[in-house]
Parts: sequence; C-alpha cells; structure tokens
Amino acid sequence: MREALSHMLATTRGVPATPSTVMVTRGSQQALDVTARALLAPGDLVAVEALGHRGAWTAFRLAGAQLVPVPVDGEGLSVAALAALVERQPIRAVYVTPHHQFPTTTVMSQTRRAELLSLAARHRLVILEDDYDHEFHYDGRPLLPLAASDRAGSVIYMGTLSKILAPGLRSGFVVAPEPTIERIVSFRVASDIQGDHVTECAIAELFEDGELARHVRRMRCTYMARRDALVAALKRVLGEAVRFQLPAGGMALWAGVAPEIDVERWAERSLARGVAFYGARMYDFEGRYQPFARLGFTFLDEDELREAARRMATALAELPRAAHARADGSAASRL
Ligand SMILES: Cc1ncc(COP(=O)(O)O)c(C=O)c1O
Repeated sequence: MREALSHMLATTRGVPATPSTVMVTRGSQQALDVTARALLAPGDLVAVEALGHRGAWTAFRLAGAQLVPVPVDGEGLSVAALAALVERQPIRAVYVTPHHQFPTTTVMSQTRRAELLSLAARHRLVILEDDYDHEFHYDGRPLLPLAASDRAGSVIYMGTLSKILAPGLRSGFVVAPEPTIERIVSFRVASDIQGDHVTECAIAELFEDGELARHVRRMRCTYMARRDALVAALKRVLGEAVRFQLPAGGMALWAGVAPEIDVERWAERSLARGVAFYGARMYDFEGRYQPFARLGFTFLDEDELREAARRMATALAELPRAAHARADGSAASRL
C-alpha cells in the first residue's frame, strides 16, 4: 500500500513520496494523533486555524500542546497573523487544511501558500497539512498541496481514504522526511503493531488496477451534481435565509445565515425532522455563536437533498419567533 500510495501521490498530487517516506494509518485521525505525540513535547505551542477541525485540536491537546488560534478569511489561514505570532512566541507547528479550509471550504490562495512555506522555512516551523478531500474539485485541476512545493522539509502531509472509500475503513497516511517518519512509526507501533495488512493489500490492488482512479472520477461527477441540486433547492425554499458562494470543490457548503435566525436552534429543529447539520459554534475555537452553517451535500442523493432542504425550511418556520424574528420580517415569512 505504501508503494501504491507513493505512486498516486507523486503522479496525481506532485508530492515526492517514496515507500520509505509514507506511513499507513487508521484514517487521518490516527495520523494526527501519532504525529502529535511523536513531534510535540508538553507545553509546545501549536497554531491552528480558527474556525477549524476539533478532532485535530483534541489530538494536539492530548499530546500536551497548547493551542494558539489563528484567524481564517477568504484566502484561508491568515499568514500575516501567523507571522506576527511567530515573532512573539516560539510556535512549534501550524495545522492547516489549505485544499479546502475546514469548515469554511476556502481554497488557500497561491500567494498565501508561498508565504506560509517561506515563513515555515525561516522559523523552522512544522506545517501539518491535512489534505482530507483532495480528490473533490469541480473546476478543472486543483492547486497542488503545500507538500509538493516544500523545499525545506517543513511539511508533514496527511491524507485519508475516508472520503473516497468509506470512513469505516479507517485508512489514511502520513508523508514526511524519512527520519521523521521513522520516529512517527516508533510511536504508532506502541499501540498498533502492524496496521491492517489484509485491508491494505486489497486497497493497494484497487490503486494498482486503476479502479480507485475511475471511482474518484465517477464520484466527482456525482458530487458536483449533488452540490448543484442542494444549491438550487436551498435557493428555492430558503431564499435569503442563507447566503453562500458556490464551492469550487469539497463536500459541503459554508452558508451565512440571516442574522435574525438562531442557527443552533434551527439545527436542533432540523435534526428533529431528520436532517443533520452543524452551526458554526461547533468549529469556533471558543465555542462561540457565529451565524454560519456547514451543509454537507455528498451523503444524500439529489432527491434526498431536495427533501432535506424542504425539511430545513419547515424546521425554520417552526422556530419560536424569538429565535428567528426581528421587528418586521421574519425569515419564515420569506420562505
Ligand atoms: C478536517 C478533517 N480532516 C480529516 C478528516 C478525516 O478523518 P479520518 O480520516 O480519520 O476519517 C475529517 C473528517 O471528517 C476532517 O473533517
């Protein structure tokens, strides 16, 4: 599987991996956990995107790290804010999701990528790049990962098969310079001696005979159609209650919710109607309220997505007036 992965990474993502610079993991969560334990000492400072991925924060904290939030905007992580931080504090590592920032889905701009790599090289900062949904881009070719342009050996690159095969498969990987990978492996074997060789052989075959590449091409079309179906349905039944930009890739829409709507209560009501989504509180570093929601579109088919949008509209109309009404026009009255 390490051979198959390194071939795939070198040929499709420009990441110069070899079997000896790849470690197979049980999904990217294990990659984050083991890498954090191998890399970090108690008290080390790790900069994280905020909004961001709670699973990564937990892994870093359990390794003893102290997290420092860095804001994100329409170009991804604010490298200027990170640079200011690095001047003041001994930041050891930064965790980023440049391909589609999680949860906002923003693609990190080319300029920011170059600035981040150069900042990391200057300050010996480790970049933990989580490329969890690399395959899902709907507008031509995607930008290559940071790991593809890393000349200084700053990047530890992580990926997963959870999004292209199944999360229940628990299969992912880490790529890093060989001495770093050897150290990470020595931490993994403390709890997971061999990985799951049977599954790994089966996955390697799927890579080698081209089945995975064909599957990804089919999924890309399917997911693009699902994205478009959700967008059309939301526009039709929710009108101005949500605003969003069409994401060029990824598996979710990041929607701004009208200020008069309490998005967390709306999510609760929707769940009671069988539709699950998260408000932004889930991704906020301090767990604060923010008027945004992340709406996944890959799990349901197009009819189901249309039905989900209808149920979300019903849930919104059911909210107590205090949760969605301002003086004159309530969101529900606009549905
Ligand atoms: C930002 C991010 N990274 C990684 C993953 C994948 O985790 P895993 O590979 O452990 O299933 C997810 C899944 O939701 C995610 O949101």
